[in-house]
Amino acid sequence: MSVFERLEARRAVRSYIPKEVEKEKIESLLYAATLAPNDRMREPWSFYVIQGKAKKEYESLAYEYLQERFPTKPKLVDSSMKAVTQTPVIIVVTSDTLPKASDSTDNEYAVCCAIHSMWLAAEEQGLGFVWRTRGVGLVHDERLHHFIGSPQDKKVVGTVFLGYPENSEGAEKKKQRTPFEEKTVWL
Ligand SMILES: Cc1cc2nc3c(=O)[nH]c(=O)nc-3n(C[C@H](O)[C@H](O)[C@H](O)COP(=O)(O)O)c2cc1C
Repeated sequence: MSVFERLEARRAVRSYIPKEVEKEKIESLLYAATLAPNDRMREPWSFYVIQGKAKKEYESLAYEYLQERFPTKPKLVDSSMKAVTQTPVIIVVTSDTLPKASDSTDNEYAVCCAIHSMWLAAEEQGLGFVWRTRGVGLVHDERLHHFIGSPQDKKVVGTVFLGYPENSEGAEKKKQRTPFEEKTVWL
């Protein structure tokens, strides 16, 4: 597959079959991430792979978060929890923060590139993948930071959910994107 074909094929996949993901496949995603461009070779990323017992603990955190956020919407809590319990692997990705704000920002940009590389590698491995920041991704919830035992000099940039896809989730549909002509100024 060419790079363009791979980019066109990449999709956010949020439903998975209950099948374990091989460690080698997870490692190949992590390897892909480390190939990402990064300013001054700071390699600012760290990865926290959540499976098994740790996954159960993540589920408890997500449940706590959802109960607090939606106390009067038990159905929403249940459906959101399904997204967590039915995901075989969760990876939290952090970026190193530095005293200079612009360096921290550049680090986050690099980590975003790394997550995109993981996403493309996941597609190639036949895995479904989605980068979550909202809701059960818990990216903006301090509990997640504590859970991963992450020191204060790291910022959580993304929580990645992955597994073998349940269905192609619209893969046959052409991607809906605004043509670049409408987003570009040729100066
Ligand atoms: C920074 C970022 C945060 C995202 N957060 C979420 C999220 O919290 N929940 C979710 O379901 N999808 C999330 N997504 C996935 C987007 O919804 C998805 O990429 C978008 O709908 C485009 O679809 P595609 O990836 O299939 O092209 C996120 C994507 C990015 C890049």
